[in-house]
Amino acid sequence: MLEGRHLLLGVCGGIAAYKSAELARALVRQGAQVRTVLTTGAEAFVTPLLFEALTRERAFRQKDFLNPQGGLILHTDLAAWAEAVVVAPATASFLSKLSRGEPSDLLTAVLMAFSGPVLLAPAMNLHMWRHPATQENVSRLRRFGYQVVEPEEGSLACGLTGPGRLPPLEDLLLEIKALLSEKPLSGKRVLLTGGPTREPLDAVRFFSNPSSGRMAVALAQAARILGAEVYLVHGSLAVAPPRGVRSYPVQRAEEMLAEALRLFPECAIAVLAAAVCDLAPEEPLPGKTPKEALPRVLRLRPTPDIARELAARKRPGQLLVGFALEEREKLEDRARRKLTEKGFDFLAANPLESLEAEDTEVWLFSRERETPRILKGSKERVALELLGEVARAL
Ligand code: C5P
Repeated sequence: MLEGRHLLLGVCGGIAAYKSAELARALVRQGAQVRTVLTTGAEAFVTPLLFEALTRERAFRQKDFLNPQGGLILHTDLAAWAEAVVVAPATASFLSKLSRGEPSDLLTAVLMAFSGPVLLAPAMNLHMWRHPATQENVSRLRRFGYQVVEPEEGSLACGLTGPGRLPPLEDLLLEIKALLSEKPLSGKRVLLTGGPTREPLDAVRFFSNPSSGRMAVALAQAARILGAEVYLVHGSLAVAPPRGVRSYPVQRAEEMLAEALRLFPECAIAVLAAAVCDLAPEEPLPGKTPKEALPRVLRLRPTPDIARELAARKRPGQLLVGFALEEREKLEDRARRKLTEKGFDFLAANPLESLEAEDTEVWLFSRERETPRILKGSKERVALELLGEVARAL
C-alpha cells in the first residue's frame, strides 16, 4: 500500500524525535520513499545523517531553507514532491505556528505550500498537551482539515503519567495508510467477530481453540483504512485491537451472539472471522471443581450459530461475510455449500494448511460470481483486498 509512495516526514524538537527514526525505517521497509524535514529543535535531538542513512533520501534542515543548493525552492519543491506529509512528533510550538499560518521555518512553509493529506502526531508533556492554547490550536488545525492523532496515555519522559506519548509505531502506520487510501467505507459501520470463544467447564477450566484473532485484527485495520467505523466483538486476541476500533471482549459463544445481535442493525457489513466453539459443556460446574470430582464423561450441547442468527435478521443492503477453514481438496464444494446454506453474501475460505503460516491464502466466493478470487499474502494485505471487494458490492 505504501509501495513507491512519496512521504514527507516532519520531525520537531521533542524527546519523541528518537522514535521518528523508527517510523522512517518502518515506512521505507514498506516500500515508501521518505524525505525528512528537521526543525531546528529536532536537530538538538537527532541528525539529518540518521534519517538520510535510514531512508537513502535527503533530510533537510533549516539551514538548507536559507541556503538552498542547485536552484531549489525548497518549500514548494518538497510540497510538489510529497503525496502526504506526516509530522511526528509535532510539538506545541509547531502546532501553534501552523495554526497561525506562520511559515517562518522550512516545515511550516512546506505545509502551507502543500494541499494534500497531512497527519500530525503531537507528543509533549501532559500539561502542555492539556493547555487550552494547545487544545485550541489542535481544534483549529482539525477545522483546517489536518488529521491529528491523539497522543497516548502513559509514562512520559518528564516523569509524569498521562496523555502525551507518541502513539505506537503500528498505530502511526495505520493512520498513514488511511491518509493515503480511498475511503469506500466512509460513513459505514462494519461489525467484525474474531478470536476463539471460551466455553467454561467450571470457574477455571474451559474449552477453546488456538485461533489467534490476527485475521480479525487485520480486517479491523483494513476497515479503518477504508474509512469505516469498526466494531470488533472478540475472544482472546494474540495482538491488541487497533486504535480507533471499538472493541467488545467476550468469552462464550452466547455472549458473542448477544453483542453481535445488538450491533448488527447499525452495520452495513458484518464479517464473521471468529472461531466459535461448536460445542460447550452442557452445565458448567460451580467454582473450581476438585480434580477427583471432575466428570469422566461430559454432556455437550451445540453453541448458537452466530452467522445463521445474523443471516436471519439481515436487511436489504446489509452484507454478511463468513470465513471457513477447509481441506484443500474439498474447499470449493464445501465453501459453495456454506455460502448458500448459512446465508452469506461472501465466503472467505482458507485452505487448512494456511492455518500455521504467517501469510494467508483466501478463496473468496460470492453469490454474484462464478469463480472465486484467490487472495494471497500478508493478512493485512488480504484483509484490504477482501474488504475492497465487499465494499464494491454495497
Ligand atoms: O460452519 P462453520 O463453523 O465452518 O462456519 C464458519 C463461519 O461461521 C465463520 O464465519 C464463523 O465465524 C461462523 N460461525 C458462527 N457461529 C458459530 C460457528 C461458526 O458465527 N457457532
